[in-house]
Amino acid sequence: MSFQEVRTLRDKAETMKVLVILGSPRKAGNSAALAARIARGAESAAAEVETLFLQDLEISPCRGCDTCKKPASKGCAIKDDMQKIYPRLIRGDAWVIASPVYWFTMSAQTKIFMDRCYALPAYAENPFAGKRIAIAMSYGDTDPVRSGCVNAIRTFQDAYRYTGSRIVGMVYGSAVKAGEIEKDEALMREAEELGKRLAKL
Ligand SMILES: Cc1cc2nc3c(=O)[nH]c(=O)nc-3n(C[C@H](O)[C@H](O)[C@H](O)COP(=O)(O)O)c2cc1C
Repeated sequence: MSFQEVRTLRDKAETMKVLVILGSPRKAGNSAALAARIARGAESAAAEVETLFLQDLEISPCRGCDTCKKPASKGCAIKDDMQKIYPRLIRGDAWVIASPVYWFTMSAQTKIFMDRCYALPAYAENPFAGKRIAIAMSYGDTDPVRSGCVNAIRTFQDAYRYTGSRIVGMVYGSAVKAGEIEKDEALMREAEELGKRLAKL
């Protein structure tokens, strides 16, 4: 099936498709817990959810070769697991991007994934336009500014404004041990509400 056919199917589908992209190496970590709660909210609003755990996938950094920008390009020159992800990214009406704060910004896994989305326009026309985006982040410090979470927030805001996507909301909070963030019930409820909003057009 061509990417355009995938896109057409997406446009015709009634069920909202949400793709969760986990950017922490900890599958049961804090950012993943927030993302799971967003997903639960989206599912309660009848969305279909699929989750990608970047750590389990082979995704190399962008080489900046610009093969994806050449006329009639067939896409990214790097033949790794991103090739399986591109169609899913296009098909998704909404993305949930979850990342821990590592060294005062998003994790390397998340950033490499974002860099590789540079090639997405080679697979479909206006692939980012109208995409609904939710962000989930966790950090060890108690303050979002001191932790560096604000740097990642700024990057997401700039990136998705540039691509014409829509950030529906962001949830972020402090926790160190994996899963500890679930104790913050107010934040978890906020994540669930974000999921419901994400799933409503
Ligand atoms: C390599 C590394 C770098 C980190 N850098 C920061 C940082 O700059 N600021 C911060 O507040 N926490 C930092 N932390 C703590 C994590 O952000 C925190 O434990 C977070 O909850 C992890 O999320 P996860 O469970 O989704 O992986 C760092 C942790 C690691 C392992």
